[in-house]
Amino acid sequence: MRILICDDPREAGEAGAARIGAALQARDEPVLGVATGSSPLPVYRALAEGVGLAGVDVRAVRAFALDEYVGIDPAHPERYAHVVRREVTDRLGLDPSRVHVPDGTAADPDAEAARYEAAIRDAGGVDAQILGLGANGHIGFNEPGSALDSRTRVVTLAPQTRAANARFFAGPELVPTTAITQGIGTILRARRIVLMARGSAKAEAVRAVVEGEVSTAWPGSALQRHPDVTLVLDDEAASLLARAVRRRALESSRA
Ligand code: GLP
Repeated sequence: MRILICDDPREAGEAGAARIGAALQARDEPVLGVATGSSPLPVYRALAEGVGLAGVDVRAVRAFALDEYVGIDPAHPERYAHVVRREVTDRLGLDPSRVHVPDGTAADPDAEAARYEAAIRDAGGVDAQILGLGANGHIGFNEPGSALDSRTRVVTLAPQTRAANARFFAGPELVPTTAITQGIGTILRARRIVLMARGSAKAEAVRAVVEGEVSTAWPGSALQRHPDVTLVLDDEAASLLARAVRRRALESSRA
């Protein structure tokens, strides 16, 4: 696991974009894995400015989102299909027909989850996956207790996650209770993973991801089993890491 500490959001975005872009280069039809949430936004801004994308045919990029609410009003601006369109597809100039988000309005969400898992596999898997991290350690919407080999499926959102996302809805009770998410096992099949986390609210989860036992209690800890993961953190998110780990991270961030 490689750790970078970049306190400036712009620098963090550029560091993330450089690593993501490098994994997309030299692929005819690169597959990008995208996450919603605020943490990855600086990466999308940097990619939109071309950071890391030299030699990448943006119109050939295929993208798969991690997750989507089930039962959200199709017109709601926080529906991830809309968020991904705004923040990723339009900004980067991707071909909308190549950008995929699980269909949270599907009549049979379980069948939709299985279809989505197969679509990622049929695309050859994800070359570069951008991730955020929940304060409870979730990746995608894989809440604590999720099996480490789980696949795309319908999940129930943790109360903490619904509370954290209530700011995007008119009232906490309006946050959907279920979602479709790629599984932890699905995410781990991406060839490269870049996780972005900022702020003290993420510090405990970051420590669990980096220094804890691999455990379903902290879904992000499964990333320890992946050979190519980079965490791009700010000082606060890194604040609970062992001093030696932080020192090494700062050194490699300056390199
Ligand atoms: C949501 C998303 C996650 C994301 C998390 C963190 O719950 N489903 O994929 O990682 O939010 O969001 P933020 O980066 O805004 O803290």
